[in-house]
Amino acid sequence: MPDNRRFLLQRRPDGEPVREDFELVSEPTPDLAQGQFLIRNHYASLDPAMRGWMDAGGNYMPPIPLGDPVRATTIGVVEESRAEGFEAGMWVMGLNALEDYSVGVAGGFTQPIDPSMVPEVTNYLSLFGAVGMTAYFGFLEVCAPKEGETVLVTGAAGAVGSVVGQLARIKGCRAVGIAGGPEKCARLTEKYGFDTAIDYKGKDEAALTKAIAEACPDGVDVIFENVGGIILDAGLMNLNLHARVGLCGLISEYNTEPRGIRNLWQLIVKRAQIRGLLVADYVERFGEGAAQMGEWAAAGKITIDEHVDEGLENAFDSFMRLFAGSNQGKMILKIA
Ligand SMILES: NC(=O)c1ccc[n+]([C@@H]2O[C@H](COP(=O)([O-])OP(=O)(O)OC[C@H]3O[C@@H](n4cnc5c(N)ncnc54)[C@H](OP(=O)(O)O)[C@@H]3O)[C@@H](O)[C@H]2O)c1
Repeated sequence: MPDNRRFLLQRRPDGEPVREDFELVSEPTPDLAQGQFLIRNHYASLDPAMRGWMDAGGNYMPPIPLGDPVRATTIGVVEESRAEGFEAGMWVMGLNALEDYSVGVAGGFTQPIDPSMVPEVTNYLSLFGAVGMTAYFGFLEVCAPKEGETVLVTGAAGAVGSVVGQLARIKGCRAVGIAGGPEKCARLTEKYGFDTAIDYKGKDEAALTKAIAEACPDGVDVIFENVGGIILDAGLMNLNLHARVGLCGLISEYNTEPRGIRNLWQLIVKRAQIRGLLVADYVERFGEGAAQMGEWAAAGKITIDEHVDEGLENAFDSFMRLFAGSNQGKMILKIA
């Protein structure tokens, strides 16, 4: 058996992660106990949420123990098995780690997947995985969009945001996206069908509030929030009566002390609601969401970009793209 390269969390990041917080080590590939199977990881999903798992407090998941490999959803192939139902050669997906080989347990979180059901096996990490399902259930159920409404999406050129914008158009809404830089803004309107886009770079809260007002002359009925900070506060200043804010993520605060929401009073003025959402709540309905996504994708109504970097040795740089904004779509690391 070859050695197992593992990308370990060696130190809890203080603010923005630095290279020294991690170490790539080589360890013997583990022996299997009865009921276990060995997964050769091919692709790993790099998600902003992983940053929270690196902190001592954790979030909706316990913190990654120091010295453990960084937790990540992976897809791979069963290399060897002592578990019923997991034969060698079978493709699987599960919450594993950034490493060449992971050990799965029958009855655990790793489940078989069928690559013939999707155009590319990586789509299980994007449109048909947690990202697509966050957009699908988070937007359609939590934000309850109605035809003709104006939907403001922040982090709009990213994996979740780009899908939400397309869902808004499918539902007959006006989709307005906020993203960083002219290229991403062009992608919003030209590729994902947003009605208009706002470049947040170089804008303070007042300028953002004004830009949103200009882009949304009828006000904002739904905010799908991925970013937080001044972008969320500027959005709140433009809410319509009975608007809904779906709080999906606050990426602008993952590496800093939380700034908090300053314009919360707008929820009173507009009798609006804000609700947090977590994709894990919908796991049992993923089949339903994926089937609908599949129909829309086949009809050319929805698309997602995947940004695939290669090599476990590049895990740090690839992960940090999420915070630098240099990922062009769902961030995926090819391991093998
Ligand atoms: N609640 C859930 O169940 C759930 C599930 C999945 C994801 N999420 C959340 O959804 C959000 C998007 O995740 P994703 O996987 O789709 O990642 P992504 O949007 O593909 O990548 C992250 C993007 O965030 C933007 N960003 C980073 N730092 C920023 C800052 N300081 N200010 C403004 N924008 C910033 C960057 O785009 P720009 O170049 O435009 O700045 C970057 O490309 C995250 O907040 C994540 O935590 C939540």
